[in-house]
Amino acid sequence: MKIGVIGTGIVGQTLAKAWAANGHEIVIGTREPGADRISEMVKACGTSASATLVDRCHAGADAVLLAVPGRNAVEIASNAGDLSGKVLMDANNPIGDDMMPFTEAGESLAELIANATGARVVKAFNTIGMGNVAKLDFDGQKAAGFVCGDDADAKSLTMGLASEIGFDAVDCGPLSAARLLEPMALMWIRLAYVEKNGPDIAFGLLRRS
Ligand SMILES: NC(=O)c1ccc[n+]([C@@H]2O[C@H](COP(=O)([O-])OP(=O)(O)OC[C@H]3O[C@@H](n4cnc5c(N)ncnc54)[C@H](OP(=O)(O)O)[C@@H]3O)[C@@H](O)[C@H]2O)c1
Repeated sequence: MKIGVIGTGIVGQTLAKAWAANGHEIVIGTREPGADRISEMVKACGTSASATLVDRCHAGADAVLLAVPGRNAVEIASNAGDLSGKVLMDANNPIGDDMMPFTEAGESLAELIANATGARVVKAFNTIGMGNVAKLDFDGQKAAGFVCGDDADAKSLTMGLASEIGFDAVDCGPLSAARLLEPMALMWIRLAYVEKNGPDIAFGLLRRS
């Protein structure tokens, strides 16, 4: 699969490396394709990776990851070229003042991004600290990879990309469920850093057999 990755922070780096290790072709979208830090990221992904400007990274891509500062996410997606109809995996969180969502009741960042771009947005990879992606098994229980979206094919593709790197991919329903998944991310941050459980934690879905 060819995957465009917009954003070169810890989320973009971690998921790009994980997917590249599984044989996917990664095209990194960045404001600074020529920077040394980007060359290092490309190198870390291996031979199937390259870097280009944000609006070019999704040409011919099967899916695009958007992993940028939440405050700028709608604007960045809007200025990222034509994303209409693309599978856009939205890992972003609306972290506002006092660690509360900056979105209003009845909206989510994911839906704002979908409205701004016309992309087939899937909310995913937003409820866990990226340090856990290399170790998603917690004593036999896989960390949940909560996924929601309105397009069945886009959601299925994203759940596959989550499962293959070790998540227990959980279908949470339509994109409006992002209104619930985004606050969960803020709860993860609270549990990790305010309540001092540390970042080696994840949400899991317990099922009785
Ligand atoms: N940190 C985590 O463990 C974690 C986990 C789950 C979800 N998230 C969410 O995922 C998103 C990405 O988080 P992150 O920690 O990987 O990275 P980040 O520090 O939020 O930034 C990601 C990248 O966005 C790019 N960018 C594009 N336009 C920008 C602008 N105007 N200002 C600043 N950066 C801009 C930058 O890449 P270039 O300079 O290369 O363009 C930057 O490296 C956030 O919304 C976060 O809430 C984070």
